[in-house]
Amino acid sequence: MEPILELSGLSKVYPGGLTALDNVDLTINKGEVFALLGPNGAGKTTLIGAVCGLVRPTSGSIRAFGHDLASDWRRARNRIGLVPQELSTDMFEPVHRAVSYSRGLFGLAPDRDRIEEILRSLSLWDKRDERIMALSGGMKRRVLIAKALAHEPDLLFLDEPTAGVDVELRKGMWAIVDTMRERGVTIILTTHYIEEAELMADRVGIINRGKLLMVDQKDAMMARLGRTEAHITLARPLSALPSEIARFPVELEPGGEVLCYRGGDGTGKGKAEVAALTKALIAADIDYVGIDTRESSLEEIFVSLLGEGKAA
Ligand SMILES: Nc1ncnc2c1ncn2[C@@H]1O[C@H](COP(=O)(O)OP(=O)(O)O)[C@@H](O)[C@H]1O
Ligand SMILES: [Mg+2]
Repeated sequence: MEPILELSGLSKVYPGGLTALDNVDLTINKGEVFALLGPNGAGKTTLIGAVCGLVRPTSGSIRAFGHDLASDWRRARNRIGLVPQELSTDMFEPVHRAVSYSRGLFGLAPDRDRIEEILRSLSLWDKRDERIMALSGGMKRRVLIAKALAHEPDLLFLDEPTAGVDVELRKGMWAIVDTMRERGVTIILTTHYIEEAELMADRVGIINRGKLLMVDQKDAMMARLGRTEAHITLARPLSALPSEIARFPVELEPGGEVLCYRGGDGTGKGKAEVAALTKALIAADIDYVGIDTRESSLEEIFVSLLGEGKAA
């Protein structure tokens, strides 16, 4: 596999002393979709900023397309696109002009057909003459994507592309990522939605407090990290766990009215096991009045990761 981006020993300490990136090593291969998962403040935007020339690293090196960014910035820059997290764009500009201008910024010749293609693919063509400020939040975000695609980047960063957007737009965003992937664009996206990483990424990296805790193929990662939790409210309290359900990873909550299942592995095993557990309860004549099932959050996964000492 051909590396397209290589971070080594990358650190960023902001003035004031906050370590936002702590010795990050990461190699991204050509054509992959890589999701950087982490809670707010983990360092995701800082990492992207370092590659995109918006944040000056404190130490470490970045190579993109085989060029060292510290000495050869210009040769890599026009092959990188960024869709920023914040909606900061020229709000008074009409859509078409803003996108054409972005292309020009990178020294590419004007190309009306290419801009039209981009705007059409993002369902913005009908809005091309509207001012950006007049568009809905979702459309504004699509304008940011159009701007990032205007110079036909080979490496595209999407910084929390679906944070705070509605379900419809989120699906649209996923479709856009798929189209880009088919064109061979390498994509690095950040998210704090584990489902999003699961849906879109080939590989996932987990970052917390500036440290890249683990990087793995998505399937392997989800199988390792995912957990299902189910609270089963019983019709009558139990004084002890009945032997019929002892084979399940369950605990009786204090009071005996709630059975808590914690298990599974992110591959659907947890849900299947909860279904089997409910059958076993019925077979054992234990009535229940409610089941509340949920998948673990990223924060919980972090806690368990750190707790198990895997975060070296
Ligand atoms: N310009 C800055 N000056 C000082 N601290 C910053 C700056 N930008 C970000 N930080 C801090 O660095 C940490 C990482 O921030 P950021 O990279 O934005 O995280 P994320 O994108 O994962 O939410 C946070 O604690 C944030 O408050
Ligand atoms: Mg961020």
